[in-house]
This record gives sequence, C-alpha cells and structure tokens, in this order.
Amino acid sequence: MLQPLNVGSLTLSNRIVFAPLTRMRAATDGVPNDMMATYYAQRSDVGLIVTEGTYPSQAGMKYVHGPGIINGAQQAGWKKVADAVHNHGGTIVMQLMHAGFSTHEKITGEKVIAASAVDHEGFLRDAEGNDVHYETPEPVAAADIPGIVDEFVAAATRALDAGLDGVEVHSANGYLLHQFLSPHTNLREDNYGGSPAARARLTAEVTRAIADAVGADKVGIRLSPGITMSGVTEDDPEDIYATYQALMKTIAPLKLAYVSILHRDPNDKTVAMIRDSAQAHGTAVFFNDFSFGPTARPEGVATNVAARAEEHYAHGAGDAIAIGRMVGANPSFVHKLTQGLALNVPDPTTFYTHDAAGYIDYP
Ligand SMILES: Cc1cc2nc3c(=O)[nH]c(=O)nc-3n(C[C@H](O)[C@H](O)[C@H](O)COP(=O)(O)O)c2cc1C
Repeated sequence: MLQPLNVGSLTLSNRIVFAPLTRMRAATDGVPNDMMATYYAQRSDVGLIVTEGTYPSQAGMKYVHGPGIINGAQQAGWKKVADAVHNHGGTIVMQLMHAGFSTHEKITGEKVIAASAVDHEGFLRDAEGNDVHYETPEPVAAADIPGIVDEFVAAATRALDAGLDGVEVHSANGYLLHQFLSPHTNLREDNYGGSPAARARLTAEVTRAIADAVGADKVGIRLSPGITMSGVTEDDPEDIYATYQALMKTIAPLKLAYVSILHRDPNDKTVAMIRDSAQAHGTAVFFNDFSFGPTARPEGVATNVAARAEEHYAHGAGDAIAIGRMVGANPSFVHKLTQGLALNVPDPTTFYTHDAAGYIDYP
C-alpha cells in the first residue's frame, strides 16, 4: 500500500486515501479559513485527501459551518487549502455534496428540494443554534434539472481554478443524488424516476457534465450501495444491483479517475459489480469499510485500522483504501504507520465543533 498509484491524471504517493469528513470549521459564510488549511496540510502524507462535503449551490448547503464553492471568496479560501497541501507534497480533491432534502430553509434561505416530496425524520441545527425538524422537500421540476447540473459543473470548475487536483461527486450517504437513486425517496414519474436507469440518470448526467468540463481523469464519484443513511433507504438487493448496474453502464465508459465505495462487505454482489465495471475501464477503486458505521460513538471507530486496511487491500477490495476518522485524528498518518508509532483515538465530541480543539491539535 506504500507504492504509488495512478488515479486518472493524479499520481498518489501511496494507496491510503483520507475519506471525506465534515468538520464544520468554516465560517458561517462557507469560506475555508487558515485552520482548515493547517488541518489538511497536517494530513497530506496520505496518497489522496478527499475534502469534506462542500456545497455546489446555496440550496445544497447542509451545515451552517460547512464550506461551499459557489463564489470567489470561497474559491480563494480553498486556494489556501490546496496550496498548503501541495506545499506539503499532498494531493487533494474536493467532494461536491448537495444536501437535497437533508437541510432546511433556515440554513439555506432557499426552498428545500429533492427528487420527491418525501418526509425525512430528524433534526438539524440552524444558524441560531436551534434544532429544526427537516421540512417536506419540493420535488425538483424537470425544467430545473439542467440548472442543478450546471451548478455542479460551475462548482467543479471553481474547485479546479482554486488549485484542487480534482473533484468527487457525492452520490452516497443520503444526499441529493442518492435521494434520486433510491426508489423510496424518488417517486417521480418523469425521465428521472421509475426504472433503475431513470433513477440513476441525474447522477450520470452530473458526472458526465463535470467530466466534460474538467476532464474525466480528474473526477471521482462516491457510492454507498445498500447503505441506509440520512433518510435514504436502499433495502431491496435486486433493485440495488439493477440501479448501480444502470449507473455504471453509463458512467464507467467515461473512464473516471476513481470510484470510491463505502460498504460493509467488499464481497457484496453490487460492490463487486461496481469494482469490476470501474476497473475494466481503467478507473481506480477505493474501498471504505463501513463496518463501524458513521456514528460519533467512540466504540464505533476501528482503531486497528492499518491491519483492516491491509486485509482489504490484500483481498482486492480496492486499488486504495479510504479511511476517515483515524486519519482525522492523526496528522502524519502514513508516517506513523510506517514508523509503528501509536495512533491517536478520535474524540467524537469535537467532530462538529467550530474551533481548533480536536481539529488541529492532535499530536
Ligand atoms: C464526523 C464525520 C463526518 C463525515 N462527513 C462525511 C462527508 O462530508 N462526506 C462523506 O461522503 N462521508 C462523510 N463521512 C463518512 C466517512 O467518510 C466514512 O465513510 C465513515 O466515517 C467510515 O469510515 P471510517 O470508519 O474510516 O471513519 C463522515 C463521517 C464522520 C464520522
């Protein structure tokens, strides 16, 4: 895993990827700050950093302190991050994350949109720190879909202009594109709903448009087949397989840089299909072990992460292994592994706070 890996136009110095972790350290205007540049630079000895989910449009913003990439100030903030990582020899791509129904008008100032008007349990925090219940979203009008695709393209172009090395399309974990993939949250009767191919259409269109704009060799995509999260359920194995097969049929020929798969089981039938389809087109595959879930429970973190990663790699789960929380808690992660140094254990109470503690002060 310490050997370099070519991923599209990128050369990774090793096969450990920092999985995207939302940390909510940006200002309320979504502009990345110096603290974020320090944080990412500290972790630049992994082969590739994937940034936290970053909003490609105002309506797509999920968190008050999450970063965006929709204006010049945000772009300039990201340039500082990219420069800091490059100065430390690292490589960094931006995850483009549109919240869809997983946000609130009190956060975005805009109406909440999704594939269909499906309710979603749970709360989130508005700008005043109050808990607000998710709203029933408005289905995206078919006529508005090209505008959403354009927003993703503009965001990707800004990311590249800011000096990032590529972008990752977030089509996983319950966000807008995943909401279109699932038959539970997509009840549409137009070209973007119904059959597996129709539900996969928006993800495919966004991915293709970004690839056309910035080059497929700088574009990755994140998928979490069968993972039920943030209001999106995928529970029918046949439908899951058919949906992701339809998606791969359209996006694999694009020859993307990579597909990043989040799943509990590297041998799952759909995971294997995605991996085979990607690799057949020269696209690298990252595997992120979801056995421990996404929760903020301390017991939910695999501290024996190196051994698990090596095992997955040895069994061909991916060309690289993506790791989230343990890299988040460990500056110079690869150096620590190679030197056999002790790893810090992540402190979940500081995952979503807004200051330096538990962010840039891990030894
Ligand atoms: C605090 C936190 C924030 C996360 N933010 C994101 C995100 O912005 N985008 C994303 O795709 N996944 C996100 N995830 C999921 C992680 O990328 C990863 O898949 C998950 O934590 C499991 O991997 P791990 O056990 O190595 O951490 C987040 C997880 C945590 C714990």
